[in-house]
Amino acid sequence: MIKIRIEKEADYIVIDEINSSAFNGKGESKLIRAIRDSEWFVPELSLIAEKHEEVVGHILFSEVMIQTENEQVPTLALAPMAVSPQHQKQGIGTLLVQTGLEKAQQLGYEHVVVLGHPNFYPKFGFVSSVAKGIHSPFPVQEEVFMVFELKKGSLEGIQGKVEYPPAFSAVT
Ligand SMILES: CC(C)(COP(=O)(O)OP(=O)(O)OC[C@H]1O[C@@H](n2cnc3c(N)ncnc32)[C@H](O)[C@@H]1OP(=O)(O)O)[C@@H](O)C(=O)NCCC(=O)NCCS
Repeated sequence: MIKIRIEKEADYIVIDEINSSAFNGKGESKLIRAIRDSEWFVPELSLIAEKHEEVVGHILFSEVMIQTENEQVPTLALAPMAVSPQHQKQGIGTLLVQTGLEKAQQLGYEHVVVLGHPNFYPKFGFVSSVAKGIHSPFPVQEEVFMVFELKKGSLEGIQGKVEYPPAFSAVT
């Protein structure tokens, strides 16, 4: 039985450990801490997965901007997410994404961007961002940068490049 809940301060260390082991390095845990300390952090969207009261996964959505020709449109970036290696492939990552997207929608967000596995995110409805006229600021292959409309049609007429806050460049 997996429970998804908002992170607490007492979870910070285990969230670091899960990210370090899943990603094989400390970059993502540094990124999470930098986002937490920034104005872009959304406390309700830093979620953990608990299995038998053990924290086994984490997902974070934070605010980023789409820079269009005329304006900055706020959106959410899903990054990072991790499930501890011994608990992967049991549906925990799927539950974290689904719950996170539901909560983001309830909070009134209209769309989400993600840089990630092109085999994992499309099952939730993510599509290649270029199909919607949204571009990645990173030199990556088209299919790994994806967008999802929490509100159908919300990206219509919005074209531009995603801008990540400084927290992201500090650790990549
Ligand atoms: C990506 C990641 C978060 C996915 O977490 P996860 O808990 O393994 O995800 P899920 O179990 O929901 O889904 C993973 C696969 O397991 C399969 N799966 C789900 N439940 C399963 C079960 N009960 N038994 C067997 N396989 C299962 C899913 O079908 C899925 O396969 P697919 O991608 O081919 O569709 C995890 O692999 C991870 O932490 N990776 C390292 C860090 C990383 O890359 N993060 C994401 C950056 S984009």
